[in-house]
Amino acid sequence: MSQVQFTETVLRDANQSLIATRMEYTEFEAILETMNKAGYYSVECWGGATFDSALRFLSEDPWERLRNIKAKMPDTKLQMLLRGQNLLGYKHYSDDVVKRFVQKSVANGIDIIRIFDALNDVRNLKTSIEETKKCGAMASGTISYTTSPVHTLEKFVTLVKEMEKMGVDTICIKDMAGIMSPQECYSLVSAIKDAVDLPIVLHTHMTTGLGFMTYLKGIEAGADVIDTATSCFSGGTSQPSTETLAFALRQLGYEVNLDDLILKEVNDFFKPIRDKYIANGVLDPLVLSTDSDALNYQIPGGMISNLISQLKMQNAMDRFSEVLTETPKVRADLGYPPLVTPMSQMVGVQATNNVLSGERYKTVGREVRSYLRGEYGAAPGKVDRKILQMVLGDEKPIKGRYALTLNPEEFDKAKEFLGDLAKSDEDVLSYIAFPQIAESFLAERKIKEEHTVRYTIEPIE
Ligand code: CO
Repeated sequence: MSQVQFTETVLRDANQSLIATRMEYTEFEAILETMNKAGYYSVECWGGATFDSALRFLSEDPWERLRNIKAKMPDTKLQMLLRGQNLLGYKHYSDDVVKRFVQKSVANGIDIIRIFDALNDVRNLKTSIEETKKCGAMASGTISYTTSPVHTLEKFVTLVKEMEKMGVDTICIKDMAGIMSPQECYSLVSAIKDAVDLPIVLHTHMTTGLGFMTYLKGIEAGADVIDTATSCFSGGTSQPSTETLAFALRQLGYEVNLDDLILKEVNDFFKPIRDKYIANGVLDPLVLSTDSDALNYQIPGGMISNLISQLKMQNAMDRFSEVLTETPKVRADLGYPPLVTPMSQMVGVQATNNVLSGERYKTVGREVRSYLRGEYGAAPGKVDRKILQMVLGDEKPIKGRYALTLNPEEFDKAKEFLGDLAKSDEDVLSYIAFPQIAESFLAERKIKEEHTVRYTIEPIE
């Protein structure tokens, strides 16, 4: 039988989904050399929210964090998650900045870049995929999975074929909300296998409890790699468990080249870390349970809890069921964007506004306006004409790629602005990605260093 490979997510997605990416490098440093021998296809350890969190909450230089992980795991492919033309955030960057960011990610230790776009607009994937290949790393072209009348198998296959033309090494089906059913996964993997000759990677979350079944059906259809988390950091809003899948798949006759003793050592190492975050309240045991609301409402679980907190703040919980009915309507009006960040927030806020103000689209947020102008890329389906007219008036939506309208000298300007605060191009890229927090991080670092220098000179005098 065929082989199934594993990407371990404890350092990135499990860390992000369960404990808001609060794990410090020093907390997991001691297990990296062991993880290096486990036999993983790759370890996802960077990108996503890790970069922001390192600078904002952990006082860590994200680039140094990556170099440190690489030094301890030289034999394992390190993987990062990149939001195409948005890099690690929600704003679009010029092609020059995107290329430099990819170059530096690879130079500092990344082997595989998983590249996705919230709207599945290939124009937002092209620059980063091509640059990844140019740098000699592997590009994983990604489908942001969602269901809607316009998200057909044919559309997904077209996207996959376009990514194949761009030179991707693998195709990843990314189900960020954990809503992909076993049947849907089976059909999608089968359709992709028929269309292209590329390895298929599956990514899901256990939020609705479908994960294990979805992976199994995907593997039966020919998927090659699955994303899993060491068991004590698995389940709920995180990935399905590594050890459980290794056990079950082997019994079914699949070849699984993971070292069980090492998997146990890795899990034993992370258990007290998990317990610490439960004790200090960062890990809410609620996120570890199964939430089937997403299956009933066709709205991701995280978005439902956002809607509830929005309504509570406005003392309007009695309108909850109206907002739940309005949400899919707004999504349809906007051309069925996948309900993932940042679209889930936009659609949720707009649905709430439509219900509470008593008139649909009476108030429209800045982000929805930018979306309608085409700044995020093309909507997957047709946007309602009347709403487009109501919001934009005579203003015309953008025709070409939004990135082309951006200042190509962004990098040089940032470098000049930072002056001696930036010691490397990596520092400049940190600043471009997260201006305020990177600036205060770099300023603090400078103060610390000056302090150290004075301290070492004084005793000599
Ligand atoms: Co995820």
